[in-house]
Amino acid sequence: MIEGQAPAGVSEITSRLVSFSGPNGMQVVGYIDEGVEATWNERVAILAPRYGETKKNNLQLAYTLVANGFKVLRIDQTNHFGESDGTMDQFTLPGATDDLLAAVDYIDRYFEPDALILVTSSISARCGIRASALDCRITGLVNLVGVVDLDRTLQAIYQRDIFGEHVAGASEGSIDILGFEIDAANFHKSLVDAQMQDLRGTIEDAKKIKVPVLYLYAERDLWVNIESAKKVISQCQKGSFRVVPNVGHEVHEQPEAVRFTFDEIISFCRQGLPSDRLEIAKACKTILIQQNKIERARLQKILSFSNSEADFWGDYLGKFGIMEQAKYYIEYFSKMGTLIGAFRPADVILDAGCGNGFYGVGVLRSLSQHLPLMDSSACPFHYCGIDLTDTGLLRSYSRHVDEIVELQRESLVQLKGVSFSYRKLNFDLVGGAEGRPLPFSNGSINKVCSSLLISYLKEPVDLLREFYRVLKPGGVAVVSSMKPGCDMTVVYHDSVAAAYTEGNDRDAKVLLSAAGKIKVKKDVELYHFFTRQELSDLARDAGFTDIEVYRSFGDQANLMRIVK
Ligand SMILES: C[S@@+](CC[C@H](N)C(=O)[O-])C[C@H]1O[C@@H](n2cnc3c(N)ncnc32)[C@H](O)[C@@H]1O
Repeated sequence: MIEGQAPAGVSEITSRLVSFSGPNGMQVVGYIDEGVEATWNERVAILAPRYGETKKNNLQLAYTLVANGFKVLRIDQTNHFGESDGTMDQFTLPGATDDLLAAVDYIDRYFEPDALILVTSSISARCGIRASALDCRITGLVNLVGVVDLDRTLQAIYQRDIFGEHVAGASEGSIDILGFEIDAANFHKSLVDAQMQDLRGTIEDAKKIKVPVLYLYAERDLWVNIESAKKVISQCQKGSFRVVPNVGHEVHEQPEAVRFTFDEIISFCRQGLPSDRLEIAKACKTILIQQNKIERARLQKILSFSNSEADFWGDYLGKFGIMEQAKYYIEYFSKMGTLIGAFRPADVILDAGCGNGFYGVGVLRSLSQHLPLMDSSACPFHYCGIDLTDTGLLRSYSRHVDEIVELQRESLVQLKGVSFSYRKLNFDLVGGAEGRPLPFSNGSINKVCSSLLISYLKEPVDLLREFYRVLKPGGVAVVSSMKPGCDMTVVYHDSVAAAYTEGNDRDAKVLLSAAGKIKVKKDVELYHFFTRQELSDLARDAGFTDIEVYRSFGDQANLMRIVK
């Protein structure tokens, strides 16, 4: 893609909020994104959000479409997360399909376009297939990583037969679908009645679609079976199938994959237009950022997060235990340990955001191997775990005590020269002009581990400045964050599979639910996942110059090693 090749005037994109009547009289809320009238190619694209996301997540694609001459309607689904009417627990796929049909009505009535293309992804793509089978005003369908067999996809995610269990009477009122509690009976019955629960129904719909369909399959998609997706597309009269290389279900994970999908979508949408052979234009970054800011503020205002942060993390940590059996998590902490380096007698270690104390356990095990003569040290080796939650601190403490007892029983080491302490502290109140300091004197700490914490802080640079202050010269901190657009499905798949092997399938379900809530907070930008560059910039702002950044956790997290 190149910048500046867009039809004249597309740097003047406007987004106006609209609403119209959807299923059962509920209001569907959306944005119309458009450039100046002279640049319009008479085609409109309707963008449906992914399940659990809002129209804000489609902003970049919408503005890229507008930069290439289209008008766009981005909607929030009803009975879903976002601004449209209804509550998420009542979400159904037939209901989401009705939203799309209402959007088609709206566009047809007010714009009378030459072409109307639906762009849908993941679970909502199933609704796109149904809508395209029903409504001949839809002239093209883009299906990005579309779920074609919901039953199978949910089995792949949860490693359980969710619907089978529901039919057998196991679900009590609600089921968790990717982090959201949904009315089980309503969701399942509506799927079965509408024949949308499995591959058979999707194939029947595909046979009815006469317009061009583009399926974009993510090469490393764990949730959608490639053969099933191909089968569906082969039943469409004008189906085409493209593979997005080197990426999983969350294509936003890779900038190259995003570019690839945007190019494919734009080329598909403008087929038959004179502009077909023009280079694809990018959306202007400045106006994208401006609009994103407006929508973020709007979303933060309308969404209420009932839990306090401490309660939220307390709950989350209670469910996070199963992650510790996951291969990628173990590998990630092993990398963390290597980057932090070996311990010496009298070292002082700070575990900032210690959570359930997993790192502290690693510290103790490492001590048993490397410091057989700890008790001869005049100054004790000290580990201090700090976190926001009592739950995490208590769990850290009790497991560390267990570990110490175990080590002493094995007589591997007499841990007399080792002490552990714990502190409850909100890092949002640390550092900065108003904040208080970390409870350590200047240059008193040898090593800091801060695993997956800074993404959840309001001003992470303040904490990094404090790390700089308390570290000894030559002291090391390792600070990590999930990467932006990380594909949590990779991580969950791994931990859910591990939990299943251990017989902890209920925990797996609960972890998925909690992780869904983190994603929501990330989407509304209360949380921030950092790129490698952003991590380095933060460290530099905090005073560090010796900075290295690595990738770990199934390629989903960035780890930064900084030395004072
Ligand atoms: C994703 S967990 C990571 C836990 C652990 N470090 C690990 O990697 O397994 C995030 C941790 O940060 C803690 N946390 C979040 N916000 C915090 C804050 N404002 N102050 C202190 N701790 C916080 C949470 O309580 C939680 O233990």
